[in-house]
Parts: sequence; structure tokens; C-alpha cells
Amino acid sequence: MKTIAAILQSDPSMIEMTVKGWVRSFRNDRFIAINDGSTIHNLQAVIEPENFDRELLDQITVASAVAVTGLLVESEGSGQRVELQATKVEVLAGADPEEVKKTILSPKRHKLETLREQAHLRVRTNTFGAVMRVRAALSYAVHKYFNENGFYQAHTPIITGSDAEGAGEMFRISTLDPKNPPLDENGNINYKEDFFEKESNLTVSGQLEAETYAMGLGQVYTFGPTFRAENSNTSRHLAEFWMIEPEVAFNDLDANMDLAEDFIKYVVQYALDNCADDIEFLEKRLEQEDKSKPQAERSPMPLRDKLNFIGKNHFKRVSYTEAIDILRNSKPNKKKKFKYPINEWGADLQSEHERYLVEKHFECPVILFDYPAKIKAFYMRLNDKDANGNETVRAMDILFPGIGEIAGGSQREERYDVLKQKMDTMGIPEEELWWYLEMRKFGSAVHSGFGLGFERLVMFVTGMGNVRDVIPYPRTPGNAAF
Ligand code: 4AD
Ligand code: MG
Repeated sequence: MKTIAAILQSDPSMIEMTVKGWVRSFRNDRFIAINDGSTIHNLQAVIEPENFDRELLDQITVASAVAVTGLLVESEGSGQRVELQATKVEVLAGADPEEVKKTILSPKRHKLETLREQAHLRVRTNTFGAVMRVRAALSYAVHKYFNENGFYQAHTPIITGSDAEGAGEMFRISTLDPKNPPLDENGNINYKEDFFEKESNLTVSGQLEAETYAMGLGQVYTFGPTFRAENSNTSRHLAEFWMIEPEVAFNDLDANMDLAEDFIKYVVQYALDNCADDIEFLEKRLEQEDKSKPQAERSPMPLRDKLNFIGKNHFKRVSYTEAIDILRNSKPNKKKKFKYPINEWGADLQSEHERYLVEKHFECPVILFDYPAKIKAFYMRLNDKDANGNETVRAMDILFPGIGEIAGGSQREERYDVLKQKMDTMGIPEEELWWYLEMRKFGSAVHSGFGLGFERLVMFVTGMGNVRDVIPYPRTPGNAAF
């Protein structure tokens, strides 16, 4: 059966066809707007009410599922090329108007917060239909990009014993009885009796395993769910999010930046080319939403201009040290407007600083690189000390307008001794990561990679302001409903 998306593209054929979908509206006992999820647009079916029983007409209600048979003809109304001249309507599954009225399926404007509470129904709204179609297109574009560029997808494990980021933000996995766990001689929980005979967790990143695969397959990427038990209740953090992590043998940090920029531009362009109707709808939605916001919080440009801007401009590459100078001398810092004032080299950058750099200072995407070793993960390659004796690592963060950090990556420490030393001083257990260290003994080539948070990308492309509204069922602190 043809989708409504395909039918709306076709010419009036006068051929009889049957269309199945859900009723979005039914006006004047005559015009049924049908949506099947394939497009933001509805197909209009026109019926002659005198040819139908009253009983049937009464069943054609908002949200009911129908099969409509008729001829595809040129539309007399404006706004669509074709419409269905219906000869037969079958209500496949009804929807009681009184019940519909209590839900977000009722045809009026609902708050995003209300939609979140009815996450099982929200994909049937225009906004979420559009967001989820764009999300699916972006996911496809990710695989397409890597396939066209000689990468292999590596399926890295979801269950792991290692903390790839060394931040201790993992969800534990266990089949032990929480009320009566087996104890060892010291009174601690004895994980030797657990399912995996050791402590295990949900992965925070597939990077470490991906590195081992890059050392065999050359260019690899992962794209899967990752989990963080960080108690960040913000509009950008999820406890379960999807991450894309390419890893490339022989790439240094500059090549890593080139790859990230090329990749992001490709997927954004893919969405522009393939989701035109949805993005146009989302642009109008954003314009509408912005009207109720104070000037300072409104988007500086329409959604499509913003997306085109990404493709046309180089991402500005700035070292951490330069960024600190800019921030230290910035107006908000001098006027004490930052919640975390920037006083000295070594300070960790907060999202207020990242957004200042991107949105106020450079007014374009920015790649910050060469961060202080102290504030970054253990696996990043150590630079020689700079003139002031500061230690930095070959890290990079990609900062986007309205989003802040959209991706983070690094050149990896390939030198066995340096890595071992670093793991010792940072307290990374060698028993757990012996394999990661051992890899540095056998042709341990320069290599680099990065991780892009898929939901942050979807936020950027759809213009949605909250990460909870770009994933079907968000998991956040205190919420794992549905
Ligand atoms: O900066 P992160 O923690 O880096 C890593 O995980 C590395 N292993 C990546 C690599 O080099 N292969 O996370 C990478 C990206 C962030 O830039 C952000 O976009 C996203 O993942 N991210 C989150 N997205 C949603 N919710 C969270 N709690 C996120 N934490 C990170
Ligand atoms: Mg990061």
C-alpha cells in the first residue's frame, strides 16, 4: 500500500485506491483529514454525506483509524495537489470523542510538558511526528556517511566492567538479591557470586572497545545507547542517550577535527535535503514558540537559515588557552555575570562559558582543543608542557549555538608508559583495563575519535529546546516512565 507521503507526490490518476490512517479532523460531514505518519501533511478525503449512513458518519471521529477507498483526483481546495474522492469509508478502530478530549490527541495546542506526560500518544501530534521523522532520517544519514567513507560499524558491548570515562557515573547491573546479597569475609557484597562473577555496569561509552577495533579494521564507528547515572537535571542531559563514536587509526587531532566537521555538515545537509516539509513545519513551530519568549532567549535566526549556516561556515578552531583569555577579558566575566567566574588557566568550562564563546564572541560553531590534562579523561594524549609549564591533552570539544557541547573527542594516548603512568595517578584500575593498556604494546599507532550525542544533534536540527522532546521515551533522574 502506498504511503500518504507517496500519494501526495503523485499525479491525480483517477485510479481507485485504498488509504489507511488516522483521522485528524472531519469537517462538515464531508472532509476527512487522514494522516498515516509518513508525512506532516494529511490526505484529504472528500465524501458525499448523502451516500453514507448517519451511523457511519458519527464513527468518523478524531483519532479513529479508517480505511478510505476512492479515486485520486486533482484537489479543488488550495494547499494540496490531490485529494481522494471517497466511495467507501471503513472505520477500522474507533476513538470515543469524550476520551479523546482528555488527551493530547484533542485538536488544540498542548504544552510540551503535557505531551511528555502522554509520551505514548505524542508521536501522533504534528510536532512529534516531525521530530521523530527527522530523528530517523538523521540516524540513517549517520550510517550512510560512514558507509560512504569506508568505515565499519563496530557493535561494542552494552554491559561492561569498565568505566570508559573514569567518572564513576555508571548504572550497576546485578542479579543478586538486593535484600540479602552474599557477603565476603570483610562484609562487602561478594560480586564473585553475581551473574558475571564481578561488578558490571551499563556502558557510558563504547570508545575503549572501538579503539581496539580501529586497530584492526582501521576506520570504525559505534552508534548505540549509552547510560550515565549523572544527576544532571538539565534540558541537555539524559540518563540514556544515543552516541555516535567514530575511531580512526593514524588520525591525529587535526584529522579528527576535519572528520567531525565534515560528518556534522553531511548529516545536517541530509536532513535539509530529505526532511524539507518537517523542518519547515518545525521552523514555524519555533517562530510561534519564540513569540512568547523574552527577546534574549529567542533564536537569532530561522531554523533553516541556522542549518544552512552550519554548512557554509568553517568551525572556528580555538585552543583552550586562547578561550580562557577571551573569557577572562569578556564583559560578563568583568561584570560578574557568570555564575562561575573565570579567574585562571585550568578552570573547567561551564555551559555559560561555552555558549558565550559560540553565541556572543565567535557567532559560529567552535572547536576548542588542547584542554588542561587535569580536567579531561585519562585516555587523552598528553602534549609536551607549554612555555608556562602547563600540561594539556589533545582533547577537543565541539560547541554549537543553542546547544553548547555537541561532541567531544581526542587523540588517544598511544604510548604504553605514559598511559600506564596516567592510569596510576588518576586511579584507573589496571585489573579492569589491562587489555586497553596491552593494546599499546602491539603496533600502537596514533589514533583519534570523538563522541557525538545523537539527541543533541536532533535538538539542533529540529530546533527543539529540551532533550526530553527528541527521544521517544526519555530517561532522566526520577523518571523512567513508559
Ligand atoms: O564528552 P563525552 O562524555 O565523551 C565520551 O563519551 C567519549 N568517550 C567520546 C569519544 O571520544 N569517543 O560524551 C560525548 C558526547 C557529548 O559531547 C554530548 O554530546 C553527549 O555525548 N552526551 C550526552 N548527551 C545527552 N545526555 C547526557 N547525559 C550526555 N553526556 C554526554
Ligand atoms: Mg565531553
